[in-house]
Amino acid sequence: MSENNEKPWIRIDRIGRHVGGEVTVKGWVYNKRSSGKVRFLLVRDGTGLVQTVMSQADVPEEVFRTFDDLTQESSVILTGLVRADRRAPGGCELILSGLELVHRAEEYPLAPKEHGPDFLLRHRHLWLRSPRQTAIMRIRSELGRAVRDFFDERGFVQLDTPILTATACEGTTTLFATRYFDQGPAYLSQSGQLYAEAGAMALGRVYTYGPTFRAEKSKTRRHLTEFWMIEPEMAYADLDEIMDLAEELIVHFVSHILETRRRELDLLERDPRPLEKIKKPFVRLTYDQALDQIRALGGGPEWGQDLGAPDETLLSRSSDLPILVHRYPLAAKAFYMKPDARDRRLALCVDVLAPEGYGEIIGGSQREDDIEALSARMAAENIPRESLEWYLDLRRYGSVPHAGFGLGLERTVAWLCGLQHVREAAPFPRLMDRIYP
Ligand code: 4AD
Ligand code: MG
Repeated sequence: MSENNEKPWIRIDRIGRHVGGEVTVKGWVYNKRSSGKVRFLLVRDGTGLVQTVMSQADVPEEVFRTFDDLTQESSVILTGLVRADRRAPGGCELILSGLELVHRAEEYPLAPKEHGPDFLLRHRHLWLRSPRQTAIMRIRSELGRAVRDFFDERGFVQLDTPILTATACEGTTTLFATRYFDQGPAYLSQSGQLYAEAGAMALGRVYTYGPTFRAEKSKTRRHLTEFWMIEPEMAYADLDEIMDLAEELIVHFVSHILETRRRELDLLERDPRPLEKIKKPFVRLTYDQALDQIRALGGGPEWGQDLGAPDETLLSRSSDLPILVHRYPLAAKAFYMKPDARDRRLALCVDVLAPEGYGEIIGGSQREDDIEALSARMAAENIPRESLEWYLDLRRYGSVPHAGFGLGLERTVAWLCGLQHVREAAPFPRLMDRIYP
């Protein structure tokens, strides 16, 4: 152990702090090459890549020979001197004095070259090791932290809502069903919202952070069948308040990612300039105004329909800032939304569209808080009342105006990282035609 004290085990992303010192690195072989009597090894440890250099004259013969045995992804423990070198990735290289082979990898299926998406997805458990994928996962993790910090600092309580539920929240067409003992069918939660509403009545302000499921039969670049959602819910709040909250949340996490994950954005070749433009105030459009703009751009559904993905793409490409589209036609939206008293054909709801064509990352609304109106809406939509009596209770015992929204984690990561498809934003994406690995 004493040798480890002299040669501390360091993480590659912090190697710059150890210039001139002897260190230990524990990782995996990414690549290797030889040039005369010098051997170069590119090693990754999950935090970055470091180039190591070994000269025949500097190391014992068996260490030099170990090099020849190394295959891609073999696990290795290295010791050496950190030398600053501006040409090296990360600005430093390691002059090797010791090399221990921990496990010699079999022939690795993913060469550092181009593979098709199907091959990569089938090898997702290995594909995750690539520099690009680790950068995305670090940004995802940091985004989660930024979002939780944002709500924690504002007095929201994290409330973990159930995954096995007795009813639909977002329509019956995308439910995953299973049998639940002798209680009849249970469904994987599409959204924690209904429970978050109960939580808001108990605690004032809550947020969920968890997985949600939708049996989406759509193979688009925006749809997963399992995705993570963050859902704040506030008692004594209206649509305007959650629109302000959504705007502040987005400004907060975008600037946090720019501050903390520059290296990863660079590695992904994500142009930071569009993200640097994300400042308050965002654009706010009513559904009617949005429809006019989309029509001017050559798209747009009939009045009354929800906006489709192509419409959102058109609209969100036309703006540098996120767009808050509010007051959609009530008939196109979920049963729990409150109608606008000024025009009862409209819902007090908002979708937030990320710019650069990314489209909807947030959906939210003010909730119907009147028991008669809510009951009528449920009846009109054939929603079985028995299974939602508990939800109606929230309107029986001290009902108050309340509102909330859901932020999709993978779509947000896709936007921040500039990804073509949300599947790269999830460690193990679940798609209609894919549940392996
Ligand atoms: O707009 P949605 O369906 O809203 C709700 O579920 C509300 N109950 C939320 C609330 O008010 N508490 O979904 C919210 C967000 C979308 O804006 C999108 O970012 C994401 O969840 N989302 C999906 N992400 C990936 N794949 C899918 N199939 C998604 N469906 C929704
Ligand atoms: Mg939506």
